[in-house]
Amino acid sequence: MSKNNMPWYMNAVFYEVHIRAYCDSNNDGIGDILGLISKLDYIKNLGVDCIWILPIYPSPLKDDGYDIADYYNVHPDYGTLEDFKRLIQEAHNRGLRVIADLVLNHTSDQHHWFQTSRSEPNSKFRDYYVWSDTDDKYADARIIFLDTEVSNWTYDEKAGLFFWHRFYSSQPDLNYDNPAVVEEMQRVMKFWLEMGIDGFRADAVPYLIEREGTNCENLPETHQILKGFRTYLDENYEDKILLAEANQWPMDVLAYFGDGDEFHMGFHFPVMPRIYMALRKGDASPIHWIMSQTPDIPDNTQWCTFLRNHDELTLEMVTEEERQWMWAEYAPDPRMRLNLGIRRRLAPLLDNDPRKIMLANALLYSLPGAPIVYYGDEIGMGDNIWLYDRNGVRTPMQWNDRLNAGFSEAKPETLYAPVIDNEEFSYKVINVEAQEHDPHSLLNKMRHLIDVRKLHPIFALGAYEFLAKEHTKCLCILRTHSDEQVLCLFNLTNSVQQLSLDLAAFADRDIVSLIDGNSLGKIKLAETELELEPYEFQWLSLKC
Ligand code: BGC
Repeated sequence: MSKNNMPWYMNAVFYEVHIRAYCDSNNDGIGDILGLISKLDYIKNLGVDCIWILPIYPSPLKDDGYDIADYYNVHPDYGTLEDFKRLIQEAHNRGLRVIADLVLNHTSDQHHWFQTSRSEPNSKFRDYYVWSDTDDKYADARIIFLDTEVSNWTYDEKAGLFFWHRFYSSQPDLNYDNPAVVEEMQRVMKFWLEMGIDGFRADAVPYLIEREGTNCENLPETHQILKGFRTYLDENYEDKILLAEANQWPMDVLAYFGDGDEFHMGFHFPVMPRIYMALRKGDASPIHWIMSQTPDIPDNTQWCTFLRNHDELTLEMVTEEERQWMWAEYAPDPRMRLNLGIRRRLAPLLDNDPRKIMLANALLYSLPGAPIVYYGDEIGMGDNIWLYDRNGVRTPMQWNDRLNAGFSEAKPETLYAPVIDNEEFSYKVINVEAQEHDPHSLLNKMRHLIDVRKLHPIFALGAYEFLAKEHTKCLCILRTHSDEQVLCLFNLTNSVQQLSLDLAAFADRDIVSLIDGNSLGKIKLAETELELEPYEFQWLSLKC
């Protein structure tokens, strides 16, 4: 694939936004669509291409909107369908795209499909969900929300039957063996695509189908259904994407790309905890290893990578020993732990050290894939581990040092969640306005990093290889695309590191920093000696 004909998502940078948390336009204490519209220029200036918005649909909010009660409307807290249409237009006017969550696997128990299903055995909706006389079917399926759920089956008094759910018991799973359910979801896709949306982040896709004797994940029948959604998209629209949320090993995610005919993109989950491991251990081996487990994917598809998101930092894709180590290192207080993960944000995890935060981002951007920035992490927001569930990483965006961090003019006690106001992470210190004015702020460094990455599609398209693997205190990645090379170097430790690299194949070329444009001289036939300051990273172009 060349730079000129690559689809937009290959070289995109995404920005994940929770509308509830971003900006409150009507001062009711809850962020809304008009609030987000008022901040689109900020998002554009960040340099990202596409906004991913968390669920905005009517919902009892038992799972912050991932429990949908009506797929065809907007939660009144957030505004109206008209507001949403305007959001898409205003984003498009600025050259920004918007994708939204498509929650396929389950609905809220408040959805009228479920209400009818449980109370009217003869209605067509009975078969929309997975019912059983007993709670012993599919016993090999794991429980995902381990801290709250004891079974994937819950007894429903009204139906006199058990229903199946992979997440909260207030989120009954839809029955994808029923073609009517598939048609319903296709209609949902159509509704939002016609409104102009640029695609979907498809939630929890491994769990659509259940089969006895399996773990009920990644089944061939599930892939068949997902391929059907892709066919529908391709037959009716152009330039729209499907992004798979499959928290699985890369070899299993590979199947979600199909032959380039299932998902355009898929999250790469397990590289994420290994970036934190590498940084804390001062050892590149976890990254070498996970990338050795990462297969090539079809040409027209792309990984989606991230350091943090709205969920706990998941430790599902690590060994038990690694999980215990991650918890001990990054979640010493039990309040920081949730299910199999850690409910903290990027900056607190990385000791609020801008060197580590920038290194982690640059490392992510140097690997294959299109990266996502989680709202607030671009300014180094903190978290609140005392809030329920994952709400501690979903607190109001910090715009300035005034009332409610500029998020809302409502009375502070009426906000949907308190703003972060503890010492080094207080909104009085960490906010957009303060960082706008400081050329060395995290925000401005992030903007520059995003700009540089986007200017060089080699990061999106190039092959990669690790150099100097024996020097495990540093990570060295050589990206190559046709006759262009970029060397990405990371010192994972708190001490100065000398690196000796064999770059003889590129002798006589200039080494130029992509970050500041400085030249480091010509490459010689002998080994190239480079020195990296503690937690320093370099992006070096090897120019012909
Ligand atoms: C979302 C979570 C949600 C779950 C159930 C996920 O993978 O990211 O926030 O709780 O799906 O819908």
